[in-house]
Amino acid sequence: MAYEKEIDDARDVAKYAYAPYSGFKVGCALYKDGRLFSMGVNVENASYGLTLCAERAALARVVTVGHPLDMGVGVVLVIYADAEKPAMPCGACRQWMIELIPNATVVSATDNAVEVATVRALLPQPFVLEVSDGNAPV
Ligand code: THU
Repeated sequence: MAYEKEIDDARDVAKYAYAPYSGFKVGCALYKDGRLFSMGVNVENASYGLTLCAERAALARVVTVGHPLDMGVGVVLVIYADAEKPAMPCGACRQWMIELIPNATVVSATDNAVEVATVRALLPQPFVLEVSDGNAPV
């Protein structure tokens, strides 16, 4: 299976997911130029709307260490869920991806299926905010 090692990493970290409300544990492993760079899990909250997805947890960690991802060139973001079908990222996570890693590839896996897409294909025509000192990086 393609991306086997990367999917194993996302599966390994999914066990740390904090998902007492949905029971749906998600793990995310983010690779840059073939090297594991960041990981994340979903973190739920009793106030449901405050739930953080695994993808945004992994991306926040990237920003914390200085955001050296260079527009997401060479970045592969892997999502693992113990589910029937691969979990494609939610709208909020797609908006984070288009901002931070617009050129990345997204791999979403379960134990039996893998789906691969680009960030740009997942969020065509994104919201972009023009700021006074230039455009957002998309
Ligand atoms: N979730 C993720 O972490 N990533 C996805 O791509 C889909 C959804 C989480 C959010 C929530 O904790 C649980 O899965 C059920 O929606």
